[in-house]
Amino acid sequence: MKVVIVKDKKELGQRAAEIVAAVMNSRSTPVLGLATGSTPLPLYERLIQLDKQNKIDFSTAVTFNLDEYVGLPPDHHQSYRYFMDKNLFDHVRINKKNTHVPDGMAKDPDAFCCAYEEMIEDVGGIDIQVLGIGSNGHIAFNEPGTSLGSRTHVTELTAQTIKDNSRFFARIEDVPTRAITMGIGTILEAEEIILLASGENKADAIAKALEGPITCMVPASALQLHPKVTFVITRDAASKLQHFGK
Ligand code: PGA
Repeated sequence: MKVVIVKDKKELGQRAAEIVAAVMNSRSTPVLGLATGSTPLPLYERLIQLDKQNKIDFSTAVTFNLDEYVGLPPDHHQSYRYFMDKNLFDHVRINKKNTHVPDGMAKDPDAFCCAYEEMIEDVGGIDIQVLGIGSNGHIAFNEPGTSLGSRTHVTELTAQTIKDNSRFFARIEDVPTRAITMGIGTILEAEEIILLASGENKADAIAKALEGPITCMVPASALQLHPKVTFVITRDAASKLQHFGK
């Protein structure tokens, strides 16, 4: 595992964008796995700049997002589809038809999950997956206790995640309680993975993910099983590491 420790969010965005751009520029049809949340925003800002400067080309890219709340329509301001449109897709030369976000309004969410797996398989898998991490060590909406072999599935959010995400909603009662998420097994099949983290509140989760035992109680620790992972993290998020970055 590679750990890149950066001084601030701007550098986090730049370093992460360099890694994503290298993958984009090495494929005729790059398949990107994308994440929502506040952490990847500096990455998306930088990718938008690179697209405008013709240093990368989104027009041939295909994207798959990690997750979506169940029950939020695409035009809901807290839906992940809306987030991706506003923070990336509306600003780059991508064909929206090639952007995939799980359908939170699917009539049969379980059937949708199987279809999502097939869509990823049909394009030959994900070339690079971007991940954030929850303060409890979750990746996507794979909460502690999720099987390390899990595939795309419907999941109940934990009280901690509902609390963490309530900052985006008017009231905590408005936060959806279920989501569709790629599984940990799905994520581990990406050819390359970058995990981004900033802030002291992620320091415990980062230390456990990188230096703790591999356990379903810390879903991000499963990344230790993957051959090509880079953590791009700020100094405060790295502050509890004992070995990496020292
Ligand atoms: P954040 O969320 O980037 O908003 O901190 C990350 C996550 O919960 O996966």
